[in-house]
Amino acid sequence: MKTIKNIAVLTSGGDSPGMNAAIRAVVRAGIYNGLNVFGVRRGYDGLVQGDIIPMDAKSVANIIQRGGTVLKTARSDEFRTYEGRELAFENIKKLEIDALVVIGGDGTFTGASKFIEEFDIPIIGIPGTIDNDLAGTDFTIGYDTAINTVVDAVDKIRDTAESHDRLFVVEVMGRDSGLIALRSGISTGAEAVLIPELQVDYDAIMKRLDKTRKNKSSRIIIVAEGDKEGGIVVAERIQENFPHYDVRLSILGHIQRGGKPTCMDRVLASRLGVASVEALIEGRRGEMAGLICGQVQFTPFSKAIKHINKINENLTRIVEILSL
Ligand code: F6P
Repeated sequence: MKTIKNIAVLTSGGDSPGMNAAIRAVVRAGIYNGLNVFGVRRGYDGLVQGDIIPMDAKSVANIIQRGGTVLKTARSDEFRTYEGRELAFENIKKLEIDALVVIGGDGTFTGASKFIEEFDIPIIGIPGTIDNDLAGTDFTIGYDTAINTVVDAVDKIRDTAESHDRLFVVEVMGRDSGLIALRSGISTGAEAVLIPELQVDYDAIMKRLDKTRKNKSSRIIIVAEGDKEGGIVVAERIQENFPHYDVRLSILGHIQRGGKPTCMDRVLASRLGVASVEALIEGRRGEMAGLICGQVQFTPFSKAIKHINKINENLTRIVEILSL
């Protein structure tokens, strides 16, 4: 096993609150362990272009509380090609970088797996995405902040819904995953939650809305972006079926990706940042550091990107029981 002296860290894919806390943890844990640490700007694109800068303890000062990523992020088309990855490897060799920490989601880890396979470079991943759509960790960095942003926004929408006796359809992020919708739905007392993982039973939802009419003057239906139909169509359908409801649609969009990370995301990022550096020193590679039941665990990239079955159907049952 080759001794690791120089490592580099990058953020890739969609930004998520807490990525800065993770960068800070990797840089400082690296320095603590006597390593030289580099930062790669704009994700894999920066590796291909050689946009790699030395990092020191000061370069990550005062960032733990900031949303976004100071290293910037991108989705790199060039890195998807062999030629792009070859260029990336050349740049790594020039700086004598022995190993990488990549912070991102499934696309990031898919790219990392290919890179390891072709160029034999040790890489450890840290889960950074608001969607929480990775196996091998109970929560991804940014998810907690994003759901709290949604809860805050929906609570405000509820004020208007209640004042005007309206029904609001609120579309939240989650291209392939309903996890943001489900948790934010429970915590805002939503009357229904529509997610891509489950078949939507419109008849049941319509009946439920009608049956509980006497108890409520406002209604919130949360729709995940990845739902088969999406917020616009759902709002139209409800308006058609219930002409007596005053229906409005609100698409929350990218406000869910920004903002200062919650305490939970900062602690998660700090723990996984330190764990990833220690893992590289111990000779681990091709794995994502995650937190399962409070313990740091490592999951091969190939398994981490298969997030199927993460939906706890008991949570969807809770939405229904509590919507009376
Ligand atoms: O970060 C994941 C995610 O938020 C998805 O839920 C969403 O579909 C996607 O990013 C949108 O990303 P972008 O606008 O950067 O393409």
